[in-house]
Formats: sequence, C-alpha cells, structure tokens
Amino acid sequence: MILKKVVFPAAGLGTRFLPVTKCIPKEMLPIVDKPLIQYGVEEALSAGFKDVIIVTGRGKNAIEDYFDYSFELEYILSQREDNGNLEEITKLPKEVDVAYVRQKKPLGLGHAILCAENLISSDEYFGVVLSDDIIDAKVPVLKQMVEIVKKYKAPVISLMEVDKTMVNKYGIIKGKEIEERVYELNDMIEKPKVEDAPSNLAIIGRYILPAEIFSYIKKVKPGKNGEIQLTDALRDYAKKKRILGYIFEGTRYDAGDKFGYLHANIMFGLKRRDIGDKIKKIIKC
Ligand code: G1P
Repeated sequence: MILKKVVFPAAGLGTRFLPVTKCIPKEMLPIVDKPLIQYGVEEALSAGFKDVIIVTGRGKNAIEDYFDYSFELEYILSQREDNGNLEEITKLPKEVDVAYVRQKKPLGLGHAILCAENLISSDEYFGVVLSDDIIDAKVPVLKQMVEIVKKYKAPVISLMEVDKTMVNKYGIIKGKEIEERVYELNDMIEKPKVEDAPSNLAIIGRYILPAEIFSYIKKVKPGKNGEIQLTDALRDYAKKKRILGYIFEGTRYDAGDKFGYLHANIMFGLKRRDIGDKIKKIIKC
C-alpha cells in the first residue's frame, strides 16, 4: 500500500474567525507561537507521511512563505548569533517539501480535495488533515490511523463522540463496532438535525483515503452554496466498499472556533516550560 502524501485543504474563507481572517489565513493563526497548520504537518511527518500538498486560495500566500526559507531573517539572526531562533525557523523548510494547488472557488471540502487529484496516482492512499481540528495525543492521531489502515487494508476516517446537541456541526456516521474503537461504516450524513442523526459519533478532520475517492467526489451533487461535501462522497463509497471509522485517542480542540481556539492556546500553553506556570497563576485568579 502506497501511503506517503497528505493533503491540507486550506482555501476556506475562515468566516467563523472574522475579522482577523480578512487578511490572515486561518491556518496561520498561532497556538502559542506556531501556526495551526504546523501542528498538522508535524503530526503527518511523525506518522510517516513524506509529501505535503496544501490546497490554497487567494490571500493565502503567508502559508507558502512560512514553509520557505526567509533569507533576510536568517541572515540577521545568524549575524546576531541567535541560534535558537535560527534553528526554529529553518527546521520546517529543511524537513518538508510542499506542493501547492489552488482551489479557485470555495466550493466545499470535497471540491478542495479533488483539486489535489493530479498530484496523487490512482493506486495510492493519502491522508487528509483539517488543520483547525487540533488534537493533543500521546501517539499522533494519523499514526494511530495508519495502523488501522494497514491492518484492515481499508480507508479510515477519524471519529469522536460528541454531545447529542452538537451533531448539527459535524458529519455523523452510522456503523457497526468491529473492534474496540473501530467501526465499519454503512452511512453518514453531513450536519444533520438532532432528530435525524444516526448516532453521536462525529467525523473529525483526519482521513486516510484511497485515490478512488476522487471518482466518488466527482459524482456528488452540490449542496448548500454550491458546495461539494466530502461526507457525501464517503457515504456513496460506504454503500459499495468497506470504509472504517476509528475513535482516536487524544483531545481535540476546534481551533476554527473562537472559544475552541482560546481553549487550545491555554491547554498547549500550560504544557510549555516557559509560560506554563504563569498561565496556571492567572487561571487561579
Ligand atoms: C468538516 C466536515 C465535517 C467534519 C468537520 C470536522 O466540516 O465537512 O464532516 O465533521 O469538518 O471538523 P466543517 O467544520 O469544515 O464545516
């Protein structure tokens, strides 16, 4: 099984985070001092993925600059012998090569993934990371999922239990448990009303999919705002072939939402040696 590429859809307008996302890509908002997308990229690298594909859009150039060398900054830092910062800013461009593809119109997650079709060959599996789903886990979630994909030789999507009242914010699955945490999926629905939800198991932004999924995405009928939902393509796939859901081990924050973003900043900040104790003090006040 070929599994080395990972796609980061990053062309969304970030409307849940306006006004800052008018000029700053949502993916570049920091959790403490690293942009959201870096957490996802580091997770993918530690799960063994090698090639990163970022689906960008207009106004997202900061993402490309971030994964590139910055000659002027590096020159000044080396003149100042600020080796700590120098290492920090050169680590990522050294480690990872990124391919970019533009999604010219914001037509939904399914469409964004379809934009990467030409970069993935027909016999490959590939990862998908939605970088605003930030997950704190002992074993990186993508790594947990790679184990399941290899064991069952089938695509896997990540799942999390959510409160019944929150099902209208997620793709929700229907499935049968075949092993602790692993479900065989037979249906799923994007953002159902509470009364229509088949379960309280929500799809979270980590997927490992076969290239075949592109042909299913192409057949999806556009929904609200002309958007093509990935969940609809996965549902059609599940009707024909085996696809699994996996309840990951870890804590997920919805960093695309203002509260979730601040929550993640506090929780990641608490773990840091330089600021953790200071945060503890102000939280007690
Ligand atoms: C997307 C997916 C949805 C999934 C969610 C997880 O929705 O379409 O199925 O549950 O990510 O974060 P979005 O939040 O982009 O609207």
